[in-house]
Amino acid sequence: MRNDIQSVLFSEEKLAEIVQSIGKRISEDYKDKNLLMVSVLKGSVVFMADLMRAITIPCSIDFMSVSSYGSGTKTSGVVKIIKDLDINLEGYDLLVVEDILDSGLTLHYILELLQSRSPRSIKVCTLFDKPDRRTADIKADYVGTVVPDEFIVGYGLDYAEKYRNLPFVGILKPEVYQKEMEN
Ligand code: PRP
Ligand code: MN
Ligand code: MG
Repeated sequence: MRNDIQSVLFSEEKLAEIVQSIGKRISEDYKDKNLLMVSVLKGSVVFMADLMRAITIPCSIDFMSVSSYGSGTKTSGVVKIIKDLDINLEGYDLLVVEDILDSGLTLHYILELLQSRSPRSIKVCTLFDKPDRRTADIKADYVGTVVPDEFIVGYGLDYAEKYRNLPFVGILKPEVYQKEMEN
């Protein structure tokens, strides 16, 4: 698995540092609110697990599963709900947790849907932001770090459902996905 990685972009230590600092900010900003963290599966699962433990105020969590990429490297533009939330959003200050904000199509869809369920407030936290690729009019309120337009994997981010369990984030070697892109 490590052999498919061209270079490491963020080490385990660097990721922990980024997550701690976002957690601190959220803990301060939401101390008088009713925080509900909503993790967008599957990519955000690792970030969510670390981020919730970096938050020092009471909070609730829920999960939602959508997919727009399928097994390819490019977005299909089609967002599909695979699992919806369990919690009724009324009275909650929602924080949608994503691993990466790319075209913004996934979040655009999710935000519109969640907004219609009348939460008290709704904000977005993403570990990675790729602003160069944005097509939807979406901005995150909390951004871990901006990333270049490379195909990155690890720490929850996949290619064809693999590499999510890498503890670091790296750039995938082009030859790993080249074959599919030629088709
Ligand atoms: C990835 C990523 C974000 C979304 C970002 O999810 O985890 O959710 O794409 O892309 P966008 O801004 O262009 O919409 P994916 O659909 O691959 O599902 P996954 O989280 O299960 O990997
Ligand atoms: Mn995702
Ligand atoms: Mg994916």
